[in-house]
Amino acid sequence: MCGIIGYAGKAGAEKFLLQGLKKLEYRGYDSAGIAVLDEDEMQVVKCQGTLDELENRLRQKSLRGYLGIGHTRWATHGVPSDDNSHPHQDCQGRFALVHNGIIENYQSLKAELQAAGHSFCSETDTEVLVHLLEEVHQGDMIAALRELQEKLAGSYALAVVDNREPEKIYALRQASPLVIGLGEQENYLASDMPALLNATRKFHILEDGELAVLKEDEISIFSAAGEEIEADIFQADWDAEMVKKQGYEHFMLKEIYEQPTVVRRLLAAYLDRDQVKLPEVAEIWGDEIDRVLITACGTAYYSGLVGRHILEELANLPVEVEISSELRYKKNFLDENSLTLVMSQSGETADTLAALKLARSRGSRVLALTNTIGSSIAREADAVVDLKAGPEIAVASTKAYSAMLTALYLTGLKLGELRATLPERELLTYRRELLKLPEKITAALNRVEDSCREAADYLKNHSSMFFIGRNLDYSLALEGALKLKEISYLHAEAYPAGELKHGTLALVEEGVPVIAIFTRRGLVSKTLSNVKEVKARGGRVIAIATAGTIEDKEEFDQFIELPACNELWAGVLTVLPLQLLAYHTAHNLNCSIDKPRNLAKSVTVE
Ligand code: AGP
Repeated sequence: MCGIIGYAGKAGAEKFLLQGLKKLEYRGYDSAGIAVLDEDEMQVVKCQGTLDELENRLRQKSLRGYLGIGHTRWATHGVPSDDNSHPHQDCQGRFALVHNGIIENYQSLKAELQAAGHSFCSETDTEVLVHLLEEVHQGDMIAALRELQEKLAGSYALAVVDNREPEKIYALRQASPLVIGLGEQENYLASDMPALLNATRKFHILEDGELAVLKEDEISIFSAAGEEIEADIFQADWDAEMVKKQGYEHFMLKEIYEQPTVVRRLLAAYLDRDQVKLPEVAEIWGDEIDRVLITACGTAYYSGLVGRHILEELANLPVEVEISSELRYKKNFLDENSLTLVMSQSGETADTLAALKLARSRGSRVLALTNTIGSSIAREADAVVDLKAGPEIAVASTKAYSAMLTALYLTGLKLGELRATLPERELLTYRRELLKLPEKITAALNRVEDSCREAADYLKNHSSMFFIGRNLDYSLALEGALKLKEISYLHAEAYPAGELKHGTLALVEEGVPVIAIFTRRGLVSKTLSNVKEVKARGGRVIAIATAGTIEDKEEFDQFIELPACNELWAGVLTVLPLQLLAYHTAHNLNCSIDKPRNLAKSVTVE
């Protein structure tokens, strides 16, 4: 997703902007650029490619000045190219503007502007914004931006500088995230907090419709209604250290190994031997609630599939799980008797945010389980459970997924308590076993790392493979397949083990890898039959199983064993080899593990 950075201060803007853009690289991009004002001289350098390419250009033409904006572009409209990269400028070269989001009515606006004589040099929707600004600006930037807003449909976080006001950065937010950072004699702007943690931990998170004016020594915030308001300063409990690799080769590996700490932090915050401390769940619960909907995208959606089993088994509640981008276009039965759980690491996924708003519009109460307090989803929900995973930088989500599972385990237990569906003795056993998870995760990581390297050596030579399981294990297989696909670019498909023989088994031939997951004792014999069907066709089967579920290991070409664990809680262990298989396979193939092609960390467009 695009990244925006801005600086107003006494130090050189170019250096700060480049550092900030490096911190935004993880969002995914294909071109970059900056604009710096030196008095009334507008200096713009931008290009397709990585920040290294931009730095090469800047070595030929260093930019002087103490105020500027920067951008990393993740192409939506128009191919990656120098002309399509941001910042974009008006016909006179007076303004420079950067944007994250999608302007849905840009074609009609562009036609009107071209008819009015504006000449365009890119295919982007963003360039329409700066020419429209040029068209409506009558001397007051705030009034001009408000008039611009009236004409726009879609989502935007934008920043703009004007060579006639070289001491100001203007910023506007509508449905795409934008934060203001407050410094000493300098102020900052960025798409997200991790980009600024080296400079500050004090933030104002812009709300939809809010407009900000940044100068080196002051910021002004204007509400959607137009009145000037006090900045609502938020002190981030993340620090700069948390967004560094700390000796790991990739953020993804660091975040895989952070999972024991993340789960321990969550349990310490929300659980002790005697009770689940989730007042957010208690406050949102009502006895009239008779069904739950979980909605999310990608890995967060797959955590919701696990959550369904947990909530149905612990709270005896019917649970539906819907992909957010699908929920909006299907008949749904949401009403005031529904509880909607929204899962999102970033809290900014556009499809998930739209699904949340739909659920609320139908009268459903909404509980957000998110890793980003202050995000759009956190602010729109009725109640929020903080996943406390710390900043997750790698595009492939790992520790946030484990945090989601843990938060769902706790939510299931809490709902079980509230609905008195479980005897206290059983609840106590469940709580005790949850408290053991951090140690089990550490043990599992130590136990499986080498086996996963060995398996990855095999997988790297195959362009397609299958992940199979039944019930909870199928939900986990889906996450395993996604992890492998998104960072190794090999095709993988998750399949309910019992379903293979209904067609897909036709694809299994000599050597095809099949990863089979076993954590539910009652389903082992059935899944073993499916494994035998695969073996009979020459498939190569790698088992991932919790200790004690499988006696006869002869059937498998490789056996990856995890510590014994309560079947309901096994997901946070099973996902570890799935993550490591993906990581080592991608590493073998020299893929861009933290920043896989075509993908973004937070998908803030629909
Ligand atoms: C998962 O590895 C991907 N990065 C992606 O599927 C992600 O889970 C999805 O885009 C949802 O993101 P969110 O949790 O920030 O809403």
